[in-house]
Amino acid sequence: MSNNNLLRGFKDYIFSEAEKFQYIIDVTSEIAANYNFQKSYFPLLEESNIYSRSLGEESDIISKETYNFIDKGGNDVTLRPEFTAGIVRALITNKLYDKLPLKIFSYGPLFRYERPQKGRARQFHQLNFEYFGNESFYAEIEILLLVRAICKKLRIRDKISLEINSLGSNETRAKYKEHLVGYLKKYQSSLSENSKIRLSKNPLRILDSKDKKDQEIIADAPKINEFYDIKDQDFFVKIIDYLSDAKLEFNINPNLVRGLDYYSHTVFEFTTDQLGAQNAVFAGGRYNNLVENMGGKYVPAIGFAGGIERLIELLDENYLEKEKNFIVPRAEKEFQFSFKLLDELRNLGYNFEVKSSAKNLSKSLRKLSSLNPHFVFIIGEEELSKNILIVKNFRSGQEYKISLVNWQSEFRKIYNNSVLKTIK
Ligand code: HAM
Repeated sequence: MSNNNLLRGFKDYIFSEAEKFQYIIDVTSEIAANYNFQKSYFPLLEESNIYSRSLGEESDIISKETYNFIDKGGNDVTLRPEFTAGIVRALITNKLYDKLPLKIFSYGPLFRYERPQKGRARQFHQLNFEYFGNESFYAEIEILLLVRAICKKLRIRDKISLEINSLGSNETRAKYKEHLVGYLKKYQSSLSENSKIRLSKNPLRILDSKDKKDQEIIADAPKINEFYDIKDQDFFVKIIDYLSDAKLEFNINPNLVRGLDYYSHTVFEFTTDQLGAQNAVFAGGRYNNLVENMGGKYVPAIGFAGGIERLIELLDENYLEKEKNFIVPRAEKEFQFSFKLLDELRNLGYNFEVKSSAKNLSKSLRKLSSLNPHFVFIIGEEELSKNILIVKNFRSGQEYKISLVNWQSEFRKIYNNSVLKTIK
């Protein structure tokens, strides 16, 4: 073996790659703060049982993908393959129960010994969100709207669609498993080798199979929604109704089961058709029983993670392009006032430039519109004498007259409304 090899499935993030990486973390951190998620960091190495007890011995991650070893003190340890189990461990270790409900945002590297391909690495990075202590369907809505806000801000919303399903309660799943296995056993000899193994170990995962023949068999298999009880049904319907109201498009996929053992009720994936087989960009679900199963109190929870490498692939070339806003003084004598305004707007955190008007205002505005601005302030002698400012929203076409006395708060309202509308 020659020296200086990069390990398969590992990557250097150099210059523009590192910039994109940081941009995704910055954008997400800002949105996380708006949604009241608090940033926290957790160890890269945990005792192996943290993962095996939570993800399930038969899950792909535990059965074949962990980087684990015995450390010098004789401890069986594992490099973290995902965040959730370690965060649950931290919640229990630090007895965070009196802080509930608790929203935690984290990001960082993870390790899975998978076969590398486009969108799949052995060291990869996630943005991870966990929401503890909220049993209401409202937590689902908040989480799903949060993903939408991230996609919107990264300008990748039209590349991503939401697949959602409910796995129901533990009892529902147990009943379903029994019926599914009964059905699949009839076709056992025709199943792929992988699915034959899964039939006894992890039968729900057969629903995920990419094998053509498996998929034909699955098409006629019983579906989980046939086994929901009233509570499962009500809970899922509330989510679906709310999502329709919020105009967040989704597809109910009864075969979406996710590869980790801890989920119950809602599971979801935001997928893309731009990354080949590795199509999930954000993925997660509810896991009400995990904290208790790991030795803590009963704490309902929901969370998700997004793959930073997959997001990097989806970013546009011009992803860094900032929003543009302008102040247009109609004539030379409004320049002084315009620059005072510019200074205040920048201090308030808005991105503005002054663009002088040619004699013909409408011609100047037409020229400006090719720069795709969001807001333009028009400063004229007549308006100033009446103590008003004209503000034009180029996205909606609306024009506002705002009073010079409290223009800051009036503009903030107009601006926030416009941003909210575009996030929807
Ligand atoms: P997961 O589906 O295993 O879920 O991973 C979530 C996301 O991480 C995937 O959708 C993908 O974007 C990214 N990802 C996973 N494996 C790789 C890889 N080998 N290379 C590149 N990207 C990858 C979880 O990890 C759960 N802990 C999510 C969660 C949080 N559920 C509840 N809370």
